[in-house]
Amino acid sequence: MATTVRSLLGSCRLPRLEGRMLLRHVLRVPQVWLMAHDTDTVDAVSAARFHDLVQQRLAGHPMAYLIGEREFMGHAFRVAPDVLIPRPETELLVETAVRHLALLDSPQPCVLDLGTGSGVVAISIALACPQARVVATDVSDRALAVAAENAAALGAKVQFFCGSWYEAVLPQSLFDIIVANPPYVAAHDPHLVQGDLRFEPMLALTDGADGLTALTDIARGAPARLRAGGVLWMEHGWNQAPVVRSLLQGTGFQRVRSLNDLAGIERITGGSL
Ligand SMILES: C[S@@+](CC[C@H](N)C(=O)[O-])C[C@H]1O[C@@H](n2cnc3c(N)ncnc32)[C@H](O)[C@@H]1O
Repeated sequence: MATTVRSLLGSCRLPRLEGRMLLRHVLRVPQVWLMAHDTDTVDAVSAARFHDLVQQRLAGHPMAYLIGEREFMGHAFRVAPDVLIPRPETELLVETAVRHLALLDSPQPCVLDLGTGSGVVAISIALACPQARVVATDVSDRALAVAAENAAALGAKVQFFCGSWYEAVLPQSLFDIIVANPPYVAAHDPHLVQGDLRFEPMLALTDGADGLTALTDIARGAPARLRAGGVLWMEHGWNQAPVVRSLLQGTGFQRVRSLNDLAGIERITGGSL
């Protein structure tokens, strides 16, 4: 009996939506095509590729890695196991940065994104504020390769540098805004061995300690890299807002505050010099 779209989807043991997403990815067709062609025959190579992806999904591999893409701020970003899968809550960091840039009276404001991963934050800011000079760094050169590919595909002007936090940028470079979504999960957090996190780079998730070392390093280094009146905004864990506020206050920041994500969780904290 011929293998058809319907028979493949009917036998794959995945939730309907996931099966359809994987088959669309294999056949490189839009959603409506699948609906209109469910009795079409699928060739043996595509069927084998689909079965392989289904097995990986059943073993827990994240959908974003299997289809190689995730949407963020309305843009399609390529993702690979070398980068964190962008989270919707990180859009708050971008929206806050873009709002701040709109208030600045500068023809070319300078933005630094530390720990850029797939580049979602830096690239989304660059696309929303084409007049800005956007610099993005990561300690992982593999992550930077994905980020550079995304910037080229989306037509965003971002400069990428490899190195640990501020070491990646020239000491004389000063910025109007620094943003970061650093690894903030504590090393002992049981979530690291559950769900999608099992497949994501540990370097992107945890500092290998109490979850606060990257946030602390970024906060302490920021005053030397910000122009007068410059701002720092960092994403953090659901229960880290009070300690990050104290950290920023202790580092000389003014008007320190946290903002809630759509789930009502204090998700980012920032302040200005
Ligand atoms: C939570 S991920 C964020 C990725 C991306 N900005 C996002 O929001 O999806 C943290 C990123 O920080 C990078 N990173 C970890 N330690 C670093 C360090 N010491 N210096 C620079 N980047 C680092 C990781 O490689 C990873 O890409």
